[in-house]
Amino acid sequence: MEIQRRMAVAAKGIVLGIAIALLASSTQSFVSNSPVSASSPAVLSASVPVAEAPAVTPASSVSPGAPAVEKEVPYVVTPNEVVAEMLKVARVTDRDQLYDLGSGDGRIVLTAAQKYGTRGVGVELDPKLIQESNASAQKAGLGDRVKFLQQDLFQTNLRDATVVTLYLLPAVNLKLQPKLLNELKPGSRVVSHAFDLGDWKPDKTLTVKVPKTGRIHAVYYWVVPAQVAGNWQGTLATPLGRQPVNLLLRQQFQQVTGVATAGNATLAISNAKLTGNQISFTTNKKVQGQAATIQFTGRVEGNTLKGIATVQGAGLLTGKYNLVAQRR
Ligand SMILES: C[S@@+](CC[C@H](N)C(=O)[O-])C[C@H]1O[C@@H](n2cnc3c(N)ncnc32)[C@H](O)[C@@H]1O
Repeated sequence: MEIQRRMAVAAKGIVLGIAIALLASSTQSFVSNSPVSASSPAVLSASVPVAEAPAVTPASSVSPGAPAVEKEVPYVVTPNEVVAEMLKVARVTDRDQLYDLGSGDGRIVLTAAQKYGTRGVGVELDPKLIQESNASAQKAGLGDRVKFLQQDLFQTNLRDATVVTLYLLPAVNLKLQPKLLNELKPGSRVVSHAFDLGDWKPDKTLTVKVPKTGRIHAVYYWVVPAQVAGNWQGTLATPLGRQPVNLLLRQQFQQVTGVATAGNATLAISNAKLTGNQISFTTNKKVQGQAATIQFTGRVEGNTLKGIATVQGAGLLTGKYNLVAQRR
């Protein structure tokens, strides 16, 4: 039994050691796997040797009084320059409610509150880090805007968050992906330092160079898409009367494809863009022998799609019309 216990402790140490190494070297591994063009100056300069690793508290130093839930990620801080860019890309404001999942010393929540007046919640398992975050909030006079909850990030309800920030590990991000998509409202933003969210491709990827270390850090940004897949039946109000329009939309995260049916014509949808609940797409149609383009811009609210269809190159039908559709 004793041998088994010792082996289990040793194995846990090895796993945590690997996790720390992965986080501390996340900047380097990004460079070699970078989806950003290799000609980007930021990436080129990443080939400059990396100086020191970010501050890491030893994995074994879990504070006394820590809850039974295992930490999924060790404590490694996001450099302040990277925090600044994460908040900038998410365009946080004083109307946002930001959640940092695994909040460490609270720096992301505290910086957002200080710089932008953002309300924030830090979720952290380690009671010592919670204490430190609360002390920093008091010192900065931010006690009324931020709170730090000692709890498991997977047990945290995210429904009132408008921005979520992450600096976790690839496997933890993957596990978190469905929770983010299910709980966050369309239009909420997610920003992750160092690691992406698997097959949910980011809307933006950027790199930040930290002068002190020479390291290049990746930052990924997503906007939570509305659910738009389905069969939509609607009408286009034209001067020639109400034209029935049917839309069959397919969706993978924020990527939308599909077809529009109007009269006898079935037209492929192209250039579709879905940002939160804002949707736009184009269809091409031959009207009275001429190539016509219909550009739609609108928004999805539950099972209602409303917007403006701009028809070009369609003779008498050229113009802007309201399109309203219901999902069946
Ligand atoms: C890499 S650090 C990031 C700290 C901070 N967000 C930052 O970017 O500076 C990850 C943090 O997540 C915390 N953590 C790990 N597993 C957690 C869990 N299941 N629930 C809440 N916090 C967790 C760790 O204690 C650690 O402080």
